[in-house]
Amino acid sequence: MERMRIAKVLAATQEMETVTIMGWVRTKRDSKDFSFLEINDGSCLKNMQVLVSGKSGCSLENISTGAAVCVSGKLVASPGKGQKWEIQAREVGILGEADESFPLQKKRHSDEFLRTIAHLRPRTNKYGALNRIRSRLAFAIHEYFNSRDFFYLHSPLITGSDCEGAGEMFRVTTLSPDKVAVKNGVADLSQDFFGKQAALTVSGQLSAECLACAIGNVYTFGPTFRAENSNTARHAAEFWMVEPEMAFADLHDIIDLGEDLVVSMIRFVLDKCEEDFALFANFVDKDLRRTLENIAESKFVRISYAEAIKILSAAKEKFEYPVQFGLDLQTEHERYLTEKHFAQPVAVYDYPKDIKAFYMRLNDDGKTVAAVDILVPRIGELIGGSQREERLSVLEQRLVEQKMNLDEYWWYTDLRRYGSIPHAGFGLGFERLLMLVTGIGNIRDVLPFPRTVNHLEF
Ligand code: 4AD
Ligand code: MG
Repeated sequence: MERMRIAKVLAATQEMETVTIMGWVRTKRDSKDFSFLEINDGSCLKNMQVLVSGKSGCSLENISTGAAVCVSGKLVASPGKGQKWEIQAREVGILGEADESFPLQKKRHSDEFLRTIAHLRPRTNKYGALNRIRSRLAFAIHEYFNSRDFFYLHSPLITGSDCEGAGEMFRVTTLSPDKVAVKNGVADLSQDFFGKQAALTVSGQLSAECLACAIGNVYTFGPTFRAENSNTARHAAEFWMVEPEMAFADLHDIIDLGEDLVVSMIRFVLDKCEEDFALFANFVDKDLRRTLENIAESKFVRISYAEAIKILSAAKEKFEYPVQFGLDLQTEHERYLTEKHFAQPVAVYDYPKDIKAFYMRLNDDGKTVAAVDILVPRIGELIGGSQREERLSVLEQRLVEQKMNLDEYWWYTDLRRYGSIPHAGFGLGFERLLMLVTGIGNIRDVLPFPRTVNHLEF
């Protein structure tokens, strides 16, 4: 008899003489003449209730919480509360036993404890739901761009350039540290695999720009790596970024795109992930549904960085970090704007050039660049992007100003040398989007296997 996924069985419209399911025992309860097993196979949040009568001849002797089992029997309407169907078992086979040392015996565990067993936490309701939403949302992102005629680009993960110019990159090398020759105080990498310095990418943007300037609108969606030593609830060393790059477009086009993307993804989760979403709305953040509906229904506020500084300076709030034109906004400032002042998402644009990357288009004032950060309640920065500098001489000037090596960017400046076009794009942190739609407060809990400072398990 072929195995049926429990999600399918629970969606049955009529009784079935024989069904077979396989999954893990969540609980086992014994009464005088019957035992009840709650089986979960990860296909959905709900368990399948299995009724094993003493007369069935099935042995449940080595079956306890955590064990993997195969159950065949008759699917009948359940008289009990909470489930529509149950299986009256004819056969119960054990696939894999689990003894009392199985760590998920109780119903509730702390997030901190579950992080120490990332290999088993997907078997809990919460992390099962999270991983299903994560998968569905990733597909929804692809569908969103595909249906709008964006081409999907696979940008390389090993790179020879530092996109953000911040130098917070993980080195890629085949040389063992004790064998690297040092010449004039600098490591000689001519013997290394690539014969030069190589690193894991911090962003697919620069590759996306090449493709956008050839085949039009594109997007990348893949892992990115940052060696920033920021041990916060919103930073991971390895995370996924969605990066659309639009050809013949300016800053306002990508703010429109960012707003539409965020709203569409929120609607997707509310409409298409109802069962799993309900777990987060009921148990993780009681305001989650209201927060998300509010974001989906309101227009995003758009203000310049200068206006944001004015609002923050006038705020009665005590901030830990100073507010001053020329300084970057901190999470506390971003949250004040989105949670207290406007109570909706805010796109802040035209940042001072000195706190932003070299590739952002210089505005006519000569002081600010056409950058945008889209801020959302609880998270702060969800999206960071810009219109790109398409004027060769201005770009070269910016590279020099930021003390970057012009020669290494010959291919990037070529895009401005041959048929340069206005173009713009952004990066959306996929884990931050997941935090927004689930109410989960720590990035370590939306990554299946998080990599953060001093933490690399599995
Ligand atoms: O603002 P960022 O650094 O922008 C870029 O990398 C651009 N090159 C993107 C582009 O224009 N194509 O990063 C974009 C987003 C942030 O807004 C944030 O949501 C997320 O990526 N992000 C992180 N998420 C988790 N952990 C980290 N360490 C992150 N750093 C950035
Ligand atoms: Mg940013």
